[in-house]
Amino acid sequence: MTNETKLWGGRFSEKTAASVEAFTASIHYDCRLFRQDIAGSQAHAKMLVRQGLITAEEGEQIAKGLAEIEQEIEQGVFVFRPELEDIHMNIEKALVDRIGPAGARLHTARSRNDQINLDLRLYLREETDRLVELLAGVRLSFVRLARRYLGAVMPGYTHMQRAQPVLISHHMLAYFEMFGRDQERLRDCAKRINVLPLGAAALAGTGLPIDREFVASELGFPQVSANSMDTVGDRDFVVEFVSACTLIQLHLSRLSEELVLWSSSEFGFVELADSFCTGSSIMPQKKNPDIPELIRGKSGRVVGNLMALITMLKGLPLTYNRDLQEDKEPVFDTLDTVSRGLAITAELLGNMKFNTARLEDATQTGYMTATDLADYLVLKNVPFREAHAIVGQTVAYCVKKKKELIELTLDELRQFSKAIDEDVFAVLTVKGSVDSRRSFGGTSIFRVKEALEKAERDLGM
Ligand code: ARG
Repeated sequence: MTNETKLWGGRFSEKTAASVEAFTASIHYDCRLFRQDIAGSQAHAKMLVRQGLITAEEGEQIAKGLAEIEQEIEQGVFVFRPELEDIHMNIEKALVDRIGPAGARLHTARSRNDQINLDLRLYLREETDRLVELLAGVRLSFVRLARRYLGAVMPGYTHMQRAQPVLISHHMLAYFEMFGRDQERLRDCAKRINVLPLGAAALAGTGLPIDREFVASELGFPQVSANSMDTVGDRDFVVEFVSACTLIQLHLSRLSEELVLWSSSEFGFVELADSFCTGSSIMPQKKNPDIPELIRGKSGRVVGNLMALITMLKGLPLTYNRDLQEDKEPVFDTLDTVSRGLAITAELLGNMKFNTARLEDATQTGYMTATDLADYLVLKNVPFREAHAIVGQTVAYCVKKKKELIELTLDELRQFSKAIDEDVFAVLTVKGSVDSRRSFGGTSIFRVKEALEKAERDLGM
């Protein structure tokens, strides 16, 4: 392409080197923004007409031309040209080629610097809503599991060691909370995405009589950005969005780790559906949890994307710098990875069964009611530190005798404290232990039911 046909070719006497065109082009990934780019241009053109910067007739030609281009892109017949760099110039050039002089007026009072910022904001605004929906799907899967297994127990862990018995539902609702915070974070981030950047122009605003408020209301932005220099150099909203996505990915990854462990024969806590596992090409007996493994593995790229973004921004002087073009691949990749992860996780959870007998068995060993014994002593007026030591000695005795706490006789127990009576056995059972944890947020059936009902209400069930 000669530089006379390039939209910015006027100043140049030499043709751009092909290698430079290839190196600087972003069209192969920013073509994703075509709908947003066109929506922004439509609103901008409408404003130009209202302000008398272009005629109504030119406005109509632009609107029609853009709509046709949009359709061609939708249908896959539009040819993107790398020598036109990015989505903005591909569309604008196509418009000029199609409608002539009117098309050449579209870029009045606008720069690609505010235009790309607008496209990204429009795009991320929609994607935020989509992610919130996907998160709702995952939360629903947890609530269903919590409801289905209400009352069933499992070991709760700290340091990956059996710690205290809990309800399966309590564990499921822990994830319900985590993914709920993710929804809140996205909604919060959406507030800062939802600011109109258009009108900042290249960096300093424009001398032409534009109406930013009108464009804002056309595009549904409740706010207009305050400082043109800040606006064109700002990618904070992208970092926030990608950070929020990274936390979602971390939550998915932690869950995945548990599912990988739980579905092993060592644990045998859950059975993943055959349709959600894959086999081995050499070991016929294998049924592998590839979905959670892949999700866990994809955390690397999501965290990497966040690092790429913040590192790219770190040394940038105001205002727009071409470096900023490097924001798109990380944000798109993060979005794709996280949204696919959420969708498949919701499905996977819906096709998973807990092995309740095995889980209950697992609560019977490991002295998991030791804290209950200490709390029992506290209620008999033994200071907690003393109670802790007494129970420690009792557990050491159990280890030596190869017995669980519940298997000790009253006489054996009383060797360690005279405060222990017949009523101790109620607190040493798993059920007694779980039921006693009635503090707000605890694992007793009473609290978990309460939390589950609230969760169901929150989801409108
Ligand atoms: N493709 C560019 C980006 O993604 C658009 C803005 C380019 N502006 C410029 N003056 N070269 O950031």
